[in-house]
Formats: sequence, structure tokens, C-alpha cells
Amino acid sequence: MFTLKLRTFLIFVTLALFSNAAFGQAPKLGKPITAADLSEWDINILPDGTGLPPGSGTPADGARVYAAKCAVCHGPEAKGGANARLVGGEPIKSMDSEKTIANFWPFSTTLFDYIRRAMPFRQPRSLTNEEVYALTAYILSLNKLIGENDTMNAQTLPKVRMPNRDGFLIRFPDKTP
Ligand code: HEC
Repeated sequence: MFTLKLRTFLIFVTLALFSNAAFGQAPKLGKPITAADLSEWDINILPDGTGLPPGSGTPADGARVYAAKCAVCHGPEAKGGANARLVGGEPIKSMDSEKTIANFWPFSTTLFDYIRRAMPFRQPRSLTNEEVYALTAYILSLNKLIGENDTMNAQTLPKVRMPNRDGFLIRFPDKTP
């Protein structure tokens, strides 16, 4: 008579053999993903700017895109409307304080990443990299974190220091500007 342990062992062995056989005759669904296909999804920007694409934009360019594609929700000059304001914000004093780009976000590069992947809310991933750089420049400029004529690109954006830069514990110091 089999002990329970032995029986369990035999079940595993049978399953292992069976699955091996099954893999041997796999239906060969799918195909290897190409680097070009993968790049569509590989859009993470690290705090130090790793992953930022070519292109550039100025606050003036951004103001035009903002008026057309963002103001309806975030209000004129990003002061807030149906959705969050993107400019200003009192210093954070408690858990209940409003968290904004200027008083909370530690890295300027996150703004690019966020806008590119998530905005406009109803058409995410519809903006060109140039538009995203321009919108990033516009919002940083409204927050007086860069000058009105500063151009944002893969070199300049990571250098913009956010006011709450030291308000976080840094998990990946080697990827942090
Ligand atoms: C249909 C409405 C809508 C439009 C249009 C829209 N957004 Fe948003 N946006 C939202 C919502 C909803 C959120 C997340 C919730 C919130 O913060 O109100 C958000 C959040 C954001 C945030 C994060 C704010 C924060 O402090 O967490 C940024 C930055 C942003 N949007 C930028 C943009 C930009 C730039 C555009 C134009 C390309 C845009 N949004 C267009 C609805 C919209």
C-alpha cells in the first residue's frame, strides 16, 4: 500500500513527465517579440533621465499644446479646473496637505514620463515626444523651476532640481541625479 508521501511523489513525477511531453508538442502559438515592438512599451524614464528620447521643447511651444489639449481639465494656465492644478501648492505640513508637482514630486523627469504615458486622460500615448518636452517645459516654467525661455531635452531636463528633491528616501542612488 502506498504511503501518502509516496503517492504525492508519484503524482508529481507523472505530472512532470506529462507536462514535458506536452511542451514537446506545444502548439507554437505567438512569435518572438521584436526590438521595435518592444520599444513601444519600453517607455520608463528613470530619475536621472535614462530613457529620455531625442527631441526638445520650450515653454512657449508647451503653452500652445496645453491650451488645445489640457486646459479643458486642468484649467487656464494649469491653475486647476475639473482636475488637479499643475502649478503652485503650499508646503506640505501633514498627510492631508494637497500634493502638487511643485511641493511633492522629487524628480523633474517624472513629469515627462507621466505626461507621455498618461495624458491627455482620454488619449494617452497620443502626444509626440516634442509635445511632451514642450508641455514639461511649460509646466516647469509656470512653477518657476526653469526660465521662460529654457529648452527642455534629454540633457537639460534631468538637471532641473525639484523643491522636494530631498523629501524622499532614495532607493536607487545610482539612478538618481
Ligand atoms: C479629460 C481630462 C484631462 C485632460 C484633457 C488632461 N488631464 Fe491631466 N489629469 C487628469 C486626471 C483625471 C488626472 C489624475 C487625477 C488628478 O490629479 O486630478 C490628471 C493628472 C495629471 C497630472 C498629475 C498631477 C499631479 O499632481 O498628480 C499631470 C502632470 C497632468 N495630468 C498633465 C496633463 C497634461 C500635460 C495634459 C494635456 C496634454 C492633460 N493632463 C490633459 C485629467 C485630464
